[in-house]
Amino acid sequence: MHSEVNSIVSGTPKAEAYDILISQVKGILDDEDNLISGLANVVAILHRNFNWWWTGFYLVQNEKLVLGPFQGDVACNRIDFGKGVCGTAWKLRSAIVVEDVDQFPGHIACSAASKSEIVVPVIVNDNVVAVLDVDSEFLGHFDEVDREKLEQVASILAQKGFWG
Ligand code: SME
Repeated sequence: MHSEVNSIVSGTPKAEAYDILISQVKGILDDEDNLISGLANVVAILHRNFNWWWTGFYLVQNEKLVLGPFQGDVACNRIDFGKGVCGTAWKLRSAIVVEDVDQFPGHIACSAASKSEIVVPVIVNDNVVAVLDVDSEFLGHFDEVDREKLEQVASILAQKGFWG
């Protein structure tokens, strides 16, 4: 299992690393009132520290998921409701942890290097407004710690006034 992290969280157990980064997320969002700026910095904090393959948001717009701020390779720019891991998380209104993307029916392969994935919806007033998607080039990279902590990140974002 590849669980190393960089910079300030190097050598720190994953749950504690998340807690440090979640404090940073809260700080960076504290006086942020712009959606794109806020999401872009959240992606940067998570991606750079955990060294993931791809980290980004898809935003719900006109009944589709539209690619938002991300770090990593060029990715699919639109995903339909119920399609792929992202569209399924939107439909189910629930986080999905995929240990092996080849075993997920309908997985959308933006990159052949991606082997496992987690998608967490951001829910505001009972509506999914975005999903946070993280890909790893390692099988089984994400677990319940990632789900719990990324749900915290999604919940912090959901409380911001910059949606809609
Ligand atoms: N794999 C995702 C598509 C987005 S990319 O991974 C960046 C999916 O199946 O929804």
